[in-house]
Amino acid sequence: MESSILEELRKETGGEDLDLSWLDKPAAERGLRVAPSRRGLTLEDISTQSYGDIPVHTNNQSGRMRGAAPRADQQRSANQWGDKSASWSDSAMLLYEEAVQRQWSSATDIPWAELPELPEEMELAMSQLCTFLTQVEFIAGDVPGMYAPNISGEYFEIGMFLASQIMDEARHLDVFRKRALANGIGLLKAGPGAIGLLVAQDFTEMASTLHLVGEGFVQSMFRMGEMFAQTEVDKRMFRLAAQDESRHVAFGVMHMKHVIETQPERRDEIHTYLDRMEGNLGTGSTQAGLTGGGETGEALAILLGGGTTETQLREGYGKLLAIRKRQVNEYMHRLDVVGLGDRRQRMNPFMAMLLDPPKN
Ligand SMILES: [Fe+2]
Ligand SMILES: [Fe+2]
Repeated sequence: MESSILEELRKETGGEDLDLSWLDKPAAERGLRVAPSRRGLTLEDISTQSYGDIPVHTNNQSGRMRGAAPRADQQRSANQWGDKSASWSDSAMLLYEEAVQRQWSSATDIPWAELPELPEEMELAMSQLCTFLTQVEFIAGDVPGMYAPNISGEYFEIGMFLASQIMDEARHLDVFRKRALANGIGLLKAGPGAIGLLVAQDFTEMASTLHLVGEGFVQSMFRMGEMFAQTEVDKRMFRLAAQDESRHVAFGVMHMKHVIETQPERRDEIHTYLDRMEGNLGTGSTQAGLTGGGETGEALAILLGGGTTETQLREGYGKLLAIRKRQVNEYMHRLDVVGLGDRRQRMNPFMAMLLDPPKN
């Protein structure tokens, strides 16, 4: 700010003692032009001019927000990451805005009063599926939550996206819990737990295992909710949850893409994380993990076949195989997008046998 203005302000406020150095932003920072776009005034709209300069590396560990002037006495935080590639995802701003605009309420956006009562074995199967899913969603909120304190103010949009995901997962936990209780059955057998997700030591390890594999499998399943949901109310529940999961998967895919592009030397390391996750998915004895183990597979087969007779179960397991195929092929598609198409040759054989031939 020009010194004459500063002097005038000092005179006006009567203060020789006033500091007013906070007014002293460099001239280049002035003349900022910000305007709303089609979706309103979004994070992308204000990530403009110098505010859009996202550093590849930073020593900013103080919680100073990108664009704010530093101060000499600022306090440090021990654990904020200084590398953009440690957590960055190009889609975070857009996905955060979408998350805020598309929040829904499990209490009022699901027409619970219109939920009919199904035959008992179908209600039991639905409650078993929902018991597994409440636990999946609980873990899906805990895992990204572990990393929120590591995000520097330079990359604050990542922290905001993580907060939106945690809120989404809380809503998923609550909607499936409500469904399990809604027709008088309640919760049945717990799922097997976090199967390697909570052991992640690194954000990219988390995105590989949670977003690329775990959430991707859940997203594919929710998208097929039309097949196993018996009522319009249940279909709506899975549709709304699938819409949220798409954002979580998109965040992870764009993070992985960024890492593969900027740190190609991490490829083998990432494959190792995927080896671990596929081990939890792709074989009979340990597939308990993401697919929910025997009990959830059985519950899904009953829902898909429409009952528990031998014919119905056979049909149910046939349809379940279609869901598994879709899960594996959509996973392979994500791998192609992030630049890990060579995974096709390394994939757990129990999963690889469900792959469609490559398109090209
Ligand atoms: Fe979820
Ligand atoms: Fe999710």
